Amino acid sequence: MKILVTGGAGFIGKHLVNYLLDKGNIITIFDNFSNSEEQSINHFIKKGVKVVNGDIRKFKEILKETVDQDILIHLAAKISVSESILNPSETFEVNVDGTKNVLEACKRSNIKKVIIASSAAIYGESVPKIKLKENTKTNPISPYGKSKLVMEQEIRKNNIDCIILRFFNIFGIGQTPEYAGVITKFIEMISTNKPLKIFGDGMQTRDFVSINNVIESIYDAIKNGKNGTYNIASGKAITINELAEFMISLSKKDLEIYHISEKHGDIRYSEADISLAKNEIKYVPKLGLNEIKTLLK
Ligand SMILES: NC(=O)c1ccc[n+]([C@@H]2O[C@H](COP(=O)([O-])OP(=O)(O)OC[C@H]3O[C@@H](n4cnc5c(N)ncnc54)[C@H](O)[C@@H]3O)[C@@H](O)[C@H]2O)c1
Repeated sequence: MKILVTGGAGFIGKHLVNYLLDKGNIITIFDNFSNSEEQSINHFIKKGVKVVNGDIRKFKEILKETVDQDILIHLAAKISVSESILNPSETFEVNVDGTKNVLEACKRSNIKKVIIASSAAIYGESVPKIKLKENTKTNPISPYGKSKLVMEQEIRKNNIDCIILRFFNIFGIGQTPEYAGVITKFIEMISTNKPLKIFGDGMQTRDFVSINNVIESIYDAIKNGKNGTYNIASGKAITINELAEFMISLSKKDLEIYHISEKHGDIRYSEADISLAKNEIKYVPKLGLNEIKTLLK
C-alpha cells in the first residue's frame, strides 16, 4: 500500500513509519520539522521513504502529495498544551485549518482510507472511576484540547469516511524532551538518581498506553476500520503517586518522592473505556506498564 504520513518525523510518526515499512508498505513522510529534526529520519530515506518538507497549512503542498496514495495517516499537529495557552491561534491554524486542508486534499485525490490522531484532551475534566466513552460529553480545558475537538467536528461535517483515534497518555522511546510525558520525566529522574517530583497531591489519574500499542491500534484501523471514533488507551488508570512508587520499585533504587504545587490546566482524572475499539477495530492493548522496565535500562 502507498501510505502518506503527515507529521511522520515526530514521536509517533517515526515508530509508525518503521512498523509500516516492515509490513512492506511504500511510505511518504510529510512534515515541516517544526517539532522534529530532518536528520532524524535519514535512515528512512535509505529504506526508500520519500520525505517532503511541507506544511499542512498550505493546501497546494499537501494536495500534491496525496495524489496516488492509498491511505493517509494524519499525525501533524501542534501538541504542546502550554504553547497552546500562549498562542492559541497558531494551535488552531495547524490543528483545525491544517486538518481541513488535509481532508479536502484526501477528498480530491480519492484516498481510500483516512486515519486521524485526536486526543483524550477533548474530554477535559471527568469523575473518578467513571470510564470515558467515545460519547461522553466533551469539555476540553486547554486550547490544545479545544482545537482537537473542533478538528473532530470539522471532520464529521465533511462527508468523508475517516477513523479518528483519541490517544490517551502515550509513553515510549523518542518523545521530544520538552513535551515528554510524566513516565519519560520519571525515567530521567531515576537514571540520574534524583527524587521524583510530582505536581499536586499525586492523586490525579492517567491512562497510560505504550507507543507499541498505539502503533498497533493504527494498524488495526488500517485493517479493520472504516469510519468511527475510538479511544486508544490501556483501559486502566493509575494515580501518579502509584506510578512513581511502581517505577522506583522497578528501578530497585532508593529514591524519594516529593510534591510541588499543582500544574495549571492539569486534568484530575482520566480513564478510558476501550470496548468500542476492541469490538470494532479489534484493538488489543498487548503491553502494559511493565514495558517501562525496558525503558529504565
Ligand atoms: N504523544 C502523545 O502522548 C499524544 C497523545 C494524544 C494525541 N496525540 C496526537 O498524535 C499526533 C502525533 O503526536 P506526536 O506525539 O508524535 O507529536 P510530535 O510533535 O512528535 O509530531 C508531530 C509532527 O508534526 C509536525 N508538524 C507540526 N506542525 C506541522 C505542520 N503545520 N505541517 C506539517 N507538519 C507539522 C512536527 O514537526 C512533528 O514532526 C498529534 O496529532 C497529537 O495531537 C499525541
